Amino acid sequence: MKDNILKYSSDKHGIVSGSSLPLDLEPEILSLRPERLSDYIGQSDVVETLNIAIEAAKHRGEPLDHVLFHGPPGLGKTTLAHIIANEMGGNLTVTSGPGLEKGGDLIGILTHLEEGDILFVDEMHRIPKAVEEFLYPAMEDFAVDFVFDKGVHARSHRYRLQQFTLVGATTRVGLLSAPLRDRFGIFRSLDFYNEEDLVKIARRSAALLEVTIDNDGAAELAKRSRGTPRIVNRLLKRVRDYAQVRGDGTIKKETVTAALTLEGVDEKGLTNLDRRYLKTIIDFYNGGPVGIEAIAATLQEETDTLVDVVEPYLLKIGLITRTSSGRKASKKTYKHFGF
Ligand code: ADE
Repeated sequence: MKDNILKYSSDKHGIVSGSSLPLDLEPEILSLRPERLSDYIGQSDVVETLNIAIEAAKHRGEPLDHVLFHGPPGLGKTTLAHIIANEMGGNLTVTSGPGLEKGGDLIGILTHLEEGDILFVDEMHRIPKAVEEFLYPAMEDFAVDFVFDKGVHARSHRYRLQQFTLVGATTRVGLLSAPLRDRFGIFRSLDFYNEEDLVKIARRSAALLEVTIDNDGAAELAKRSRGTPRIVNRLLKRVRDYAQVRGDGTIKKETVTAALTLEGVDEKGLTNLDRRYLKTIIDFYNGGPVGIEAIAATLQEETDTLVDVVEPYLLKIGLITRTSSGRKASKKTYKHFGF
């Protein structure tokens, strides 16, 4: 199997690739993921949309419409793709936009799909244009068109595919072309989670990891997790280590505070990178407005990392604003740093 594809089977979650795994596909993180919609905490509108669409499709004996998820990293796009495969009882094949370099990469995957399978494509906005062209007939007519020869000798042959469901995910829906976006029957944006839901996720994950966490501990962890379940789960493991080595093994508010201060995560959940980003706007650019390229150059970070990972939460909690002339630090930011 090529190393840009991962294949799962809905009944056993067997991973059939030997390549190294992205962080959120590591077995321990996978084991914390809900496998069914009924176990999914938060995003209630999205869950309800999927519940209805899945039940209706199953009732009609048809594959589910293609689904597009949009939102910042760590909010559940990949998890929902796994859940859809489980609920529909199909195999899941996982790939990503940058992994599909040539048309042949995508055709190879499409022609191996079985009826009712789910194809999950992460980072849809990074699919090369030439590959995207093959997706249109695949999504609309369950077919791929091969073109032989060129010019007046060009002939095309249509190859029928099994009926499958494409689940796409993107952090930048604005970068998707309109024809691609329009071919998804279901389009949902995932938003940051509120603290109440993050507390529930922290408790659920702690139970799965067999570690005791009290109410204040779970609340403190939720408060410092940037509205993101993946961060709850990652930080929970650091806090569990700390509790085992420096405490009595149980997680209380003080354990969370001490462990996360050590990790550089402050009481608002801001990381070192968040603080460097905000301080750059304040110290180098007088609080803004300043363009993202200038901030990225000063920080020596990728613009994409700042736009996809850092900025969405800072915008959400009102620490920055985005204007036509650039990013600005808000009064709240000055206050957070004690100015
Ligand atoms: N683990 C990660 N995300 C979750 C969610 N939304 N619900 C339950 N457990 C989770």
